[in-house]
Amino acid sequence: MADHHHRLPDGFVADLRRGRAWTELEDTLWRSPDLVALTYGRLWDLVAAGLPATPARVLDVGSGTGVLTLELARAGHDVVGIEPDVTSIALARRSVAQAGAGPGRLTYHQAEVESWDPDGADFDVVVTTRALHHVADPAVALARMRDWLAPGGRLVVVDFLHDLFDRRAAQWMAQARALLEAAGMFRLHAHAHAHAHDGDGDGDHGDGDDRLPAEPEAAVRRVEADWRREHEHEEVLNRAAEILDPLDELFDVSERSWHPYLYWDVLAGLRSDDSAVLRRVATRLADWEQHLLDAGTLPGVLVRAVATAR
Ligand SMILES: C[S@@+](CC[C@H](N)C(=O)[O-])C[C@H]1O[C@@H](n2cnc3c(N)ncnc32)[C@H](O)[C@@H]1O
Repeated sequence: MADHHHRLPDGFVADLRRGRAWTELEDTLWRSPDLVALTYGRLWDLVAAGLPATPARVLDVGSGTGVLTLELARAGHDVVGIEPDVTSIALARRSVAQAGAGPGRLTYHQAEVESWDPDGADFDVVVTTRALHHVADPAVALARMRDWLAPGGRLVVVDFLHDLFDRRAAQWMAQARALLEAAGMFRLHAHAHAHAHDGDGDGDHGDGDDRLPAEPEAAVRRVEADWRREHEHEEVLNRAAEILDPLDELFDVSERSWHPYLYWDVLAGLRSDDSAVLRRVATRLADWEQHLLDAGTLPGVLVRAVATAR
């Protein structure tokens, strides 16, 4: 589910409010402002709902391309983002210059959570989204985040727990995708496809034909295999228990909830020339995943927690 931020168009900033269709980024969600609103926009809502009154001192750990830090500063918080990836942080810094962050201050440090030195600073809020599953040891990262909190400060975490994906999730994704493919509304871009199949090597469905098999059981198996392949190729990918156990040991968790996320993967391939159709279909997918998650029919793979230090 990573963004591929090479070959970025001039002037591109990962900005929720930009409201622009970046057609050059057709293999990412940034190709449509509606897709961005339904994904990153909702991610921001999950974070925003956990924040205290402005201005708070907020640290975003693994801030990536800066989508959320930009919103935090716009909301009036004083924000520090730490992010080890050079390309991401360059893009995030560019956003401050181009989009204009304020009124809150926004500073970035190229650093890893394991070795960053806050130089005596502490924070009212530590935010971390979709990063803990990538760090070498979530227990170490969470202990550091706890130490950086000011007395009474809080942690707001949203993370992706890939191992909670199950057969029901694969069935839902395969069904959605099969219908969209039949309607001519689903295509994984060449780059996304190559990425999803890195390390594949068997060439079984190369040749530009990435459609699911027509037979439902075979389609579900393909989705399961693609999911495993896509996530196994990551260098580090922590499991749910490796994140949730230290969270409960180190923090008092006051809020914990589960949110739709499978639809991000389906939206990655959703195509329509008609932006109203694209918006309607994308919204239905998000709403249905939410409904089935609430009904207990689909597993949660995206967890949100708000917590204070023990
Ligand atoms: C999937 S991205 C999430 C970016 C952003 N927070 C979001 O939700 O869109 C995961 C980020 O975690 C960062 N990351 C990986 N290991 C890290 C570490 N040890 N310390 C801090 N950040 C790390 C990656 O570089 C990447 O930008």
